[in-house]
Amino acid sequence: MRVSVIGCGHLGTSHAAAMAELGHEVIGVEQDQEKCRALAAGRAPFYEEGLDELLARHTASGRLRFTDRPADAADWAELHFLAVGTPIDPEGQGYRTDQLTGALRTLVPLLHQPCTIVGKSTVSAGTVERLQGIIDQLANVPGIELVWNPEFLREGHAVADTLRPDRIVAGLTSPEARKAIEAVYAPVLAQGGTELVITDPATAEVAKSAANAFLAAKISFINAMAEVCERTGADVADVARVLGIDPRIGPLGMRPGIGYGGGCLPKDATAFTHRVRELGAGTAAELLQAVDGVNRGRLEAAVALVERAAGGRLEGARIGFLGAAFKAGTSDVRDSPALRLADRLHLRGAVVVLHDPRALAEAHRALPPAQVRETALEAVAEADLVVLGTEWPEYLTDPRFPAAAAASVRLPILVDVRTVVEPLPWLAAGWSVWQLGRPPRHPQPPVPPAEPQR
Ligand SMILES: NC(=O)c1ccc[n+]([C@@H]2O[C@H](COP(=O)([O-])OP(=O)(O)OC[C@H]3O[C@@H](n4cnc5c(N)ncnc54)[C@H](O)[C@@H]3O)[C@@H](O)[C@H]2O)c1
Repeated sequence: MRVSVIGCGHLGTSHAAAMAELGHEVIGVEQDQEKCRALAAGRAPFYEEGLDELLARHTASGRLRFTDRPADAADWAELHFLAVGTPIDPEGQGYRTDQLTGALRTLVPLLHQPCTIVGKSTVSAGTVERLQGIIDQLANVPGIELVWNPEFLREGHAVADTLRPDRIVAGLTSPEARKAIEAVYAPVLAQGGTELVITDPATAEVAKSAANAFLAAKISFINAMAEVCERTGADVADVARVLGIDPRIGPLGMRPGIGYGGGCLPKDATAFTHRVRELGAGTAAELLQAVDGVNRGRLEAAVALVERAAGGRLEGARIGFLGAAFKAGTSDVRDSPALRLADRLHLRGAVVVLHDPRALAEAHRALPPAQVRETALEAVAEADLVVLGTEWPEYLTDPRFPAAAAASVRLPILVDVRTVVEPLPWLAAGWSVWQLGRPPRHPQPPVPPAEPQR
């Protein structure tokens, strides 16, 4: 099929590349000329596992091209995906939808044949109906239907999740739109393992918001338990393990730590809470508000933990800070809990020296006062304390790293705000290990040789 993807940021670029990989002819429309040039040259302007390879392959084969001119895509494509941003509005309430309305106001007057427009951005309940009204006003021809097909991919796994999603949800109203969705996703559905859920647009909107709210609630639940553990001396990692064994709960998405971040979950949780309150569903709004409240409190909890680990002195402490991306697998630092913590420690007078294997340039732009280093060992050199802010495998899987880092720091104190470090190898290398919701662990002093018996 000939498809366009309008808006080539984190979601749109991965989607465009994956659609080409699945055999479609694809044109990506991106208004930011610098991004567009990079994409046309086969390079992603951000890191996402496996994306550069797909972009290079399909821009070279000609199956994937990029333009900043919507007219190039309008009548050429049989189906248009909309993947523009829906940031939170300046009052921090609902979504701003100006990128969606802007894209439609440009595209729709350029269409001269019936086609399907497929929205992938995350929106509040009621948006699709409003946008279809705009399309109907602007359309030169009948038969332009807006389908809502929210995206459930995980950043850091965007390519794999787009090629093999666990579900495809499409909110639509006509048999023609259903045929278009089945056709564009035919290569995915043919592989097996993906459930296609055809529903109405309102259900598709709410399903996406509810899915993100549930993920956020799972994270906030275990983080609330971390608070309880801190007050009782219990170990939240073991509590999470015990809960996760129950198949009704499951182990995934329940790691205690500094809380969720990124370009989606925080804004989606806020916007959903606002919309739910607007709709008058007061109890649901209170539940969502509590989830958000727990998450906001994690930053303070992490600052307090670092302060305790530093013996109460942050002023002048040199902190080797490992990881800036909001999660491993991406260079995205939007609303990154790691960077927020680094910023807070800097404001408290610490000297923060950052490393991130993929997001160093982004981190430097977002937090200029922090020093940056090209390697993890350089970042921890002479540190009074090391913070593990993002769960990159680089920091976790190399068995030599704890000893090498111990040799380079001033004091071997590790604060792992993601609860990902397996403490034993670090303790064996002489580190104290501090994690949220877990008792601190200290290396055992060497056992003195037994007194010879007289
Ligand atoms: N990032 C993710 O992993 C992810 C996952 C699921 C859902 N989503 C949702 O997808 C949407 C996009 O998210 P994102 O992270 O890719 O945002 P983003 O800000 O990275 O990308 C949006 C892109 O759209 C471009 N754009 C805006 N208006 C345009 C227009 N008229 N024509 C051409 N280009 C235009 C912008 O320049 C930008 O590059 C959001 O609603 C988000 O909530 C994102």
